[in-house]
Amino acid sequence: MQTEASFKLAVLVSGRGSNLQAIIDSIERGELNAGISLVLSSKPDAPALDRAKNYGIPTHVLESKSFSGKGEFDRALVAELRSRKVDLICLAGFMRILSREVVAAFPGRIINIHPSLLPAFPGLNSQKQALDYGVKFAGCTIHFVDESVDCGPIILQAVVPVYDNDSPETLSARILEQEHRLYPRAIRLIQENQLTRDGRRVLQNPTSVGKTA
Ligand code: GRF
Repeated sequence: MQTEASFKLAVLVSGRGSNLQAIIDSIERGELNAGISLVLSSKPDAPALDRAKNYGIPTHVLESKSFSGKGEFDRALVAELRSRKVDLICLAGFMRILSREVVAAFPGRIINIHPSLLPAFPGLNSQKQALDYGVKFAGCTIHFVDESVDCGPIILQAVVPVYDNDSPETLSARILEQEHRLYPRAIRLIQENQLTRDGRRVLQNPTSVGKTA
């Protein structure tokens, strides 16, 4: 794994790390011209940390219980990310809400993946929320992170069908396949400077339309 690449990523995790793996795989295949400078976990036992170590990627754990409050945790988070001089921060199953201070420290440089077609079903257990609501299509969203939860401007979305015999697990697995496809693409769009913002709308520059969607 290239940790000295010119476009440096930090991936923030709390658990399994399958999206981290998708980003690593994309870099390893040469599809994404970036390096992961840091995998930061809010849980010391997150399997995502082992995935990072397998590729020699630097890791760091920030556990909320080691800090006296959210402000102190957030200051440590900002300091760690700044020290790695990262270009883009990718939330991939990071189970903490970023404060206004953290978001303001990296304007337009934090993105998140969420397993629903936002603005539908923000928050936890989105796949179960979708099933319980009775939607016929579900999916995932990559968006810029702002101070509100699961609310920032949308970069990419992918849609999957919901079948009558779906459980939260089968639907999650179908969505996850699309998450893994989408996350490296969103990073590449940012790395290649192919996105422009028009209010809430995130537009692909005309020369790139059709190439990556
Ligand atoms: C994914 O479903 C992602 O959309 C959500 O948390 C889950 C993380 O999965 N934010 P993994 O740790 O990347 O496997």
